[in-house]
Amino acid sequence: MHQRLIILDFGAQYTQLIARRIREAGVYTEIFPCNTPTAEINALQATGIVLSGGPASVYEPGAPQLDPAVLSLKRQDGSPMPILGICYGLQAMAHVLNGSVQRADAREFGRAELNIVEEDPLFDGVPQRSFVWMSHGDHLSALPPGYRLIARTDNAPIAAVKSDSEPHYGVQFHPEVVHSEYGRSMLSNFARHVCGCVGDWTPASFIEEKVAEIRKQVGQDRVILGLSGGVDSSVAAVLLHQAVGDQLTCVFVNNGLLRKGEWEQVQYTFRDHFHINLEAVDASHLFLSRLDGVTDPEKKRKIIGNTFVDVFDDATERIATLGGQRARFLAQGTLYPDVIESVSFKGPSATIKSHHNVGGLPEEMNFEILEPFRELFKDEVREIGRLLGVPDDIVNRHPFPGPGLAIRVISDVSEAKLNLLREADDIFIKELKKHGLYDEVWQAFAVLLPIQTVGVMGDERTYENVCALRAVTSVDGMTADWSVLPSAFLAHVSNRIVNEVRGINRVVYDISSKPPATIEWE
Ligand code: XMP
Repeated sequence: MHQRLIILDFGAQYTQLIARRIREAGVYTEIFPCNTPTAEINALQATGIVLSGGPASVYEPGAPQLDPAVLSLKRQDGSPMPILGICYGLQAMAHVLNGSVQRADAREFGRAELNIVEEDPLFDGVPQRSFVWMSHGDHLSALPPGYRLIARTDNAPIAAVKSDSEPHYGVQFHPEVVHSEYGRSMLSNFARHVCGCVGDWTPASFIEEKVAEIRKQVGQDRVILGLSGGVDSSVAAVLLHQAVGDQLTCVFVNNGLLRKGEWEQVQYTFRDHFHINLEAVDASHLFLSRLDGVTDPEKKRKIIGNTFVDVFDDATERIATLGGQRARFLAQGTLYPDVIESVSFKGPSATIKSHHNVGGLPEEMNFEILEPFRELFKDEVREIGRLLGVPDDIVNRHPFPGPGLAIRVISDVSEAKLNLLREADDIFIKELKKHGLYDEVWQAFAVLLPIQTVGVMGDERTYENVCALRAVTSVDGMTADWSVLPSAFLAHVSNRIVNEVRGINRVVYDISSKPPATIEWE
């Protein structure tokens, strides 16, 4: 078993970032709700504990509190449990320890200069002065008894504290965000220098252990995997294939809403290159006939989701019963953020679009579920994909929505409109790659608008479609900024689209951020 740090989540938007930073230091870490009973925490045999930030104020009725027993936990070897409280985590510690937490006169948001006043393993390699990111309304106005100050900022005289007797620390700032210049080092220092972790969590060790675990679990049985061509299912396919070889069959559904060349490319990559059993199901006619005349985006999503379930269910049942022995496992590319969301102390966040349900499979499907990436973040899946030799084109791919191009052809969908969009999108994406811009943006695509406008080409009047280009930068898709692409590049793409895609005579660039817009247009 790996050494591991436990993060107790008090509801902060940054909790996942804390986990990612610690894992980047080679230390395995998992998130649990802040109200996890101490006995359960004890059973996890942690090497250290981080208390996350949170939106509440410790004195508010109903604010999540720290169980004082956490502060007396011991590790397996009897040594005191190292603890790091971050922002609200620090305030929750101070509240238990009779320190004083107060509403700050000036709420402190943004950059602040940290001034280290005492050398400490937490600050190994950190200059005496560096910038950190603050985001808090409350702060510590007096140290808890038995604690001393190790760093300050102008607005938060108590920016970092340490216990005189235990390896217990607290910081008022957010070391997990990139704006904290040396935050990554501080979290790594906590994991490695304070908790003494050796850094035994690497993508290579993950592959080795997962392959062994899958082999053991699957035995001689068969596994079916729904392959979309996206990062998660593609890497899952290669990993599962490494583990169980021909006992794996992938099912790839053509919903008629894929991008240009995708149907052929996915089949080539997995069947011809990786020699994986691939069942390619072309259901494009069924999808398009059910979508005929439908203009409402949510209706489109529902139809596509339901049709996918019908088609996938049919195909898996057929494949499952091939060869006399029924397939026992269905593999899914579930990632850690989905797992956290479902156990979150905050509860699932509000749904703006129904997309998380698309492709959701009915529970009564008669399989045991395999989720090899349940404990991984997307970046880790990418890293594992690279190690497994999954082509860069797939590993670095932008996210693509389950309903595909149907939500990028605004209003009703038809084969002709899809083809126009495919051509424009293909030019945009290829040019982004050619100019080294593809990896700079988080997601980019073309949208076909349901209006025609007048143009002039040669001496001819045209009356054709408008295409919008969208490119955004983002961390997780929850918020996004429109990308400031070079105007010469946009001019070049626009020119190519209008010249080469017969049916489009105008190109516009979307300059809205999320919020208030969303990334997709529907
Ligand atoms: P929005 O448009 O909500 O998109 O800002 C955020 C991210 O989610 C993707 N998206 C979807 N993904 N099914 C999916 O699997 C959907 O129905 C769906 N709608 C949006 C979108 O492409 C972006 O990455």
